[in-house]
Amino acid sequence: MSKTTAVANPNIAFIKYWGKADERLNLPANPSLSMNLAALTTVTTVEFEPGLPADVVTVGDRPLAGQALARVAAHLDRVRAMAGIGERARVASRNDFPAGTGLASSASAFAALSLAATRAAGVHLDEVGLSRLARLGSGSACRSVPAGFSLWQGERDETSFARQVVPPEHWDLHDLIAVVSYEHKAVSSYDGHALAPTSPFHQARLAAVPGLLVEVRSGIEARDLLLLGTAAEADALAMHGVMMTSRPSLLYWLPVTVAVLSALRAWRREGLAVYFTLDAGPNVHCLCQAADAAEVERRLRNLAGVLDVLNSGPGGGARLVEGHLF
Ligand code: PMV
Repeated sequence: MSKTTAVANPNIAFIKYWGKADERLNLPANPSLSMNLAALTTVTTVEFEPGLPADVVTVGDRPLAGQALARVAAHLDRVRAMAGIGERARVASRNDFPAGTGLASSASAFAALSLAATRAAGVHLDEVGLSRLARLGSGSACRSVPAGFSLWQGERDETSFARQVVPPEHWDLHDLIAVVSYEHKAVSSYDGHALAPTSPFHQARLAAVPGLLVEVRSGIEARDLLLLGTAAEADALAMHGVMMTSRPSLLYWLPVTVAVLSALRAWRREGLAVYFTLDAGPNVHCLCQAADAAEVERRLRNLAGVLDVLNSGPGGGARLVEGHLF
């Protein structure tokens, strides 16, 4: 056993994961496809320590407690079971981006934790095994394990993991994240998934996913932003339609969210190729070619209510790094 540190990037889904087929195993109601975000990182150090009475976890400078701690400890239990060890762990994790704003911090968190914890426990998983393990921590985390653009599909525990579609070098697609709120969201995606089947639109969205998935995948393979962007917008709006019409209803949008969406469509009418997607939060992910990223960022920064803009290209997979957080 040794102290081990791993890095992972969050990912942005173009076809979303919303709703579960199996709650305990985090099996999704539909396949999803995403891109890792190079500019945003989570770094996590893990060390299993003989004699430690309980897992101790800090995120940033904050010690985790309650449900958040229990979720990490349950993940460490999976790793302990694989390794056949009983030692509790010391875990420190740092994000260089705001958590709980729809920037998918649980994805990079559980991807980095899965890699750091297995290696710290002496377990070497291949990419498929690591993606499956990360999925059990947080569904979308399985997509942060492979590098670049990845597809998560498969209907059983053994077959449900993410695989690379194309590497990050394939296409320098940019995601400009218009941050419009730093507030922690009221309902986490973790709890939100369970509400999806209460929406009358859930089944309708699921029926549309296979067709949109083909468009998104073809758009990525052909580096065709119009094809990718149109399908990604359609699925993001369908997912938010499901969220809004769940019972209870989930409304993640703020007035400024809508202002960004309509500005973006106006820019598109002027000839600037930029498309949007949104996760379970009010921030808007704006997708464009690398050559247009500076112009999109400049325009977003000029919109009232946009607090910051994060600019990211496609990122690598979960990886080990030198140096530790403690
Ligand atoms: O991995 P979770 O349970 O946090 O779910 C992620 C859900 C969305 O971000 C809204 C969509 C997605 O596919 O990333």
